[in-house]
Order: sequence, then C-alpha cells, then structure tokens
Amino acid sequence: MRILSVVGARPQFVKLAPISTAATAAGIEHIIVHTGQHYDPLLSDVFFSELGIPAPDVHLGVGSGGHGAQTGAILGALDDVFDSYAPDWVLAYGDTNSTLAAAISAVKLHHPLAHLEAGLRSFNRRMPEEHNRVLTDHAADLCLAPTAVAMKHLANEGLADRSVLVGDVMTDVLFRVRDQVLSTGSKLVDELGLTAGDYSIATIHRAENTDDPARLAQIVEGLSAQGHRVILLAHPRVVAKAALHGISLTTGSLEAHSPVSYPDLIAAVLASRSVITDSGGLQKEAFLLRVPCTTIRSETEWTETVDLGWNVLANTTEEISAAVTRERPPATTDTPYGDGFAAERVVSLLAERSGK
Ligand code: UD1
Repeated sequence: MRILSVVGARPQFVKLAPISTAATAAGIEHIIVHTGQHYDPLLSDVFFSELGIPAPDVHLGVGSGGHGAQTGAILGALDDVFDSYAPDWVLAYGDTNSTLAAAISAVKLHHPLAHLEAGLRSFNRRMPEEHNRVLTDHAADLCLAPTAVAMKHLANEGLADRSVLVGDVMTDVLFRVRDQVLSTGSKLVDELGLTAGDYSIATIHRAENTDDPARLAQIVEGLSAQGHRVILLAHPRVVAKAALHGISLTTGSLEAHSPVSYPDLIAAVLASRSVITDSGGLQKEAFLLRVPCTTIRSETEWTETVDLGWNVLANTTEEISAAVTRERPPATTDTPYGDGFAAERVVSLLAERSGK
C-alpha cells in the first residue's frame, strides 16, 4: 500500500507530522510531495526538522504567484509525479491552492483521492480557501472529517456516503508537542523577556485582512491599543502588505517578530493570557490549550470553539479590545476535536479501503 501526501503550506506540514508517524508505525509506504507554495525556511524547513517529518521525496519548488498561476504550476507538475508513483491513495490536506491542485490532478488521472480535514465550511464565498475545500470535497473519493459539524456539512451537500468521521489530526500533534514543551518552556518568552500570563500571541495572514490597507490599519489599531504586550508572529504576507502601505506593525502594545517553529509557538501560547488570530489552526490550538482566543474574522469554520465560549469573533477596533479583555470563559471538558488518535484511524482506513 502506497499513500502519497501532497503538502505545500505551513498548516499542512503540521497535519502531515502525525500521518507520517502513523504510516511508519503501520509499515505503510508514504511518499511526501512538497509543492513549494511556502518556501521561506521559517514557514517550511523548520516544521520538517522540529516535528520529525522525513525530507520530502519530491519538491516541486513552485513558489508564490496569483491563484491561477500558483495552482496551475502545481497541477502541471503533479501529473507526472502521480503517474510515476502510481499511489493507492493521494492524500490532500486542508484548503490551500496545493490542496486543490492535488485534487484536480488525482481525479483526472484516476488516482483515488482522500481529503483530510473535509467538511469545513465558512460559507464565505470571498475566501479562496472556501472554494479550495468545497471543490476538493466534491472531487474526493473519501472525505475524512475532523468533527461532527463537518460531517453534517458533508451530508447536506450529498456526500454522506463517502465521508468518515476520523477526528482531528491537529489534536494528535498538539497533545504530543504540548507534553514535550511543558518540560522545556518557551524560547520566545525567554528571548523577548515576556511575563507569563501577561502577553497575547497574535497572527494575521488572510488575504481579506491583509490586502486592503484600511482593513489592515484597523486591525493594527486594535492590536496596538491593549494594556499588555501583543506579540505578532508576522507571516511574510502581512509584512509585505504592511510595508507596501506604509503601516507599522510595531506600535503601542503591538510588536512584530518573525514566525516561530510549531513547538515554540505552542510553548508561547501555553504561557500567554490570550491568542488573537485569523488562523484556523491557532483558534483550535488555543481552545485545546484552554487559552481564550479572539478571532479577527466575521465567521469561523471551528464553530465549537465559539459555542463553548473560548473563542470570540471580532472585527472593529472596539470589538477587538472588548474581546481581548473579556473574562476567562467557564471550564469545559468537551472534546469536539477528537482523542489524539485521528492519524492512526486515517492510515488504517486507507489501508482497509485499498484492500492492501
Ligand atoms: C496559504 C493558504 C491558506 C493557509 C496559509 C497558511 C491558499 C490560498 N492560502 O496562505 O489557506 O492558511 O497558507 O500560512 O492556499 N510568502 C512568502 N514566503 C513564503 C510563502 C508566502 O514570502 O514562504 C508570501 C508571498 O508574497 C506570497 C504571499 O506570502 O505571495 C501569500 O502566500 P500564499 O501561499 O499565496 O498564501 P498564504 O497567505 O500563505
């Protein structure tokens, strides 16, 4: 049995880590294809080294570009890779342009396609990620859903018969890394001289928050007006857009720093008072670590975090301040994101369905 994983962006490397471990443990051949969508070492290489992921078997080196150019370049390069490896399953992850390209190439060349993190919906048709995930779910032979809510969305779109609830692989990796960093502490906290429980970790990278200068300025204003330090781990996209529009990312309570590795991020979140983000993964990580989160968006795919009181959606400067300074939510023992063994379930399901 041969699984071929296609990854290209930072959150996909995090999801790849537990799949890679589970495939090795099950003695299953696992080919890793890196599209090169993210190429900065801080967004790519550091995830492979720190999460113990083997080096990619194939690196397409596609790099940046508009949606059409980036997706098209990946698609063109993948055709040959899929045909030469003839995988039993192509595994596509999440919602990036790399995901969509993998889906189109796999189905057209008749390679069975499984979509990990299927069924997530923001119902916001202006988000490129929403199109990537809807199109990939509908192309896939097997939709691997992380939550009961995702299963419901898949059923509503007529995909129930090819969908399986496996749990969330990000829970697997988070629990593993949390246990490691509990003993090592946070490098970022030491380096920046942060006081535990008295700073927020922030990330902003989505096109709808970075590309319009008025919108970006509004967010920066909200983050700069806090009564405690707000550490922005700045994605290259927000750095580039802020420079283009003459917006300073270090002002008032806000301090911009380079992105950090996954274990460093988890350690820094664990010791923080709150998280402020537009990332999907980080909203969930904050919840799993029981750190209050403010999400700078109008909607979220991870509705459980909001329903349980650990995440608040905020857009204006005032909403951001009110959300960041709110009371700590009530404790919860709910586990909407699974038990930390989703990757094992994915790998054995793929083996069972391939008949090998
Ligand atoms: C992509 C995904 C998004 C995911 C995010 C995680 C799409 C449409 N979006 O967004 O779903 O949540 O990754 O980070 O696939 N850049 C660099 N160095 C890099 C990578 C990007 O400088 O290593 C800059 C380039 O200017 C590039 C811009 O960031 O044009 C945007 O990169 P892109 O891959 O298009 O999307 P992300 O914003 O990273």
